[in-house]
Amino acid sequence: MKIAILGDIHGNIEALRVAYDAAMAQNVEKIYHLGDLGGYAPFVNEVVDFLIEHHIEGVQGNYDDAVANDREHCGCKYEDPLQAEMATLSFEWTKKHATEKSKKYMKELPFEIAFTVHNRKVKIFHATPIKNNLYWYEDRDEDFFLRMARKTDADILIYGHTHIPYRKNICNRIFINAGSVGKPKDGDTRACLCIVEIMPDNVNTDFIRIPYDLEKIASAIIESGMPPYFAERLRMAR
Ligand SMILES: [Fe+2]
Repeated sequence: MKIAILGDIHGNIEALRVAYDAAMAQNVEKIYHLGDLGGYAPFVNEVVDFLIEHHIEGVQGNYDDAVANDREHCGCKYEDPLQAEMATLSFEWTKKHATEKSKKYMKELPFEIAFTVHNRKVKIFHATPIKNNLYWYEDRDEDFFLRMARKTDADILIYGHTHIPYRKNICNRIFINAGSVGKPKDGDTRACLCIVEIMPDNVNTDFIRIPYDLEKIASAIIESGMPPYFAERLRMAR
């Protein structure tokens, strides 16, 4: 079974469209999204409509939970005071502009999706099996990976949140961070699409990078009244 994973879209409808087309070109059986649908770019409602229209199931990210439930904080971590200030403006903008329809969709997203393929249990969630705003980077020690694995009864764990893709195999478990479609932070500005092919005796992972009209989104960020800071960050993929 071949599936496509759309990680952290963050209001970037242009990146979502190209990632979707690339997934279809791969002849995948199913496409899932990892949540965090709004914030940092202005097309949260367009992203939600696209996912509904194309019957793309997914899980709830910390940003979706915070926007839909009108929380005071998005649950994100900041590297410096400027980033914190800019992120607050983007979060307030998104809460103000997300429609009731979008908020309802985000509110009703499940924490995780589970299924079994060739006797391998697959679990899809936003950040970790226990908390949707914990940053699970590749350089966490093996104990952390195994602790998270023990929290969930799965052989293949698929998640995002950090916007930096990786795959790791530890003790017969496969850990896949799908990266980010709409706001990569690994220095590569192209949209990141993750393809996972589960076969009886092997699991393949591909991270496909797709160029898109980034400047169109950068202009839309600036015109929307969101901080131009996020257009800059998109251009740097940071
Ligand atoms: Fe995110």
